[in-house]
Amino acid sequence: MNEKIYLTGFMGSGKTTVGQALGKAIGYQVIDTDQWIEQTYRTSISTIFEEKGEDYFRSLETEALRNLLNKRAIITTGGGIVVREENRQIMKQSGKVVFLDCEIEEVIRRTSMDHSRPLLKQKNKEQISAMFKERLPFYREADIQIDTTGKSILNLVEELKSLM
Ligand code: S3P
Repeated sequence: MNEKIYLTGFMGSGKTTVGQALGKAIGYQVIDTDQWIEQTYRTSISTIFEEKGEDYFRSLETEALRNLLNKRAIITTGGGIVVREENRQIMKQSGKVVFLDCEIEEVIRRTSMDHSRPLLKQKNKEQISAMFKERLPFYREADIQIDTTGKSILNLVEELKSLM
């Protein structure tokens, strides 16, 4: 079993839910990079985006990854962590990277009622879909890709366990 497992995927792809369930199943600690940032800087992701912008937030994600390097854990990541090459490299070099793929319609359905994600604010379906497509090549650099569409959490955990 790998010492570290990174769960990546678009907003609403189920990283947090699957990460928590997988952590329980294999007895790993689960750490979320967004939560790490919010706790470390005692502020919200939305405030960071508003006050400092996306680029700054990406560098905090890099800092989070670096700080978690010595952990034996499942790391659930923010959907945009893969945008920065340095982040992709850190993950690839230090653990197993899993991409939780999900149909964009499902992602839009899951995230449409949620107003806490700054990058989804004032974006229509076409724009969200375009962002997803733009990121796909980065997500696909993962070691493992799993299609989550229509699968239960239990199924996903079993599938992940068999792949590790
Ligand atoms: C982001 C995804 C969010 C959070 C931030 C930016 C993105 O995490 O990191 O709002 O760029 O896709 P989730 O994927 O957990 O929603």
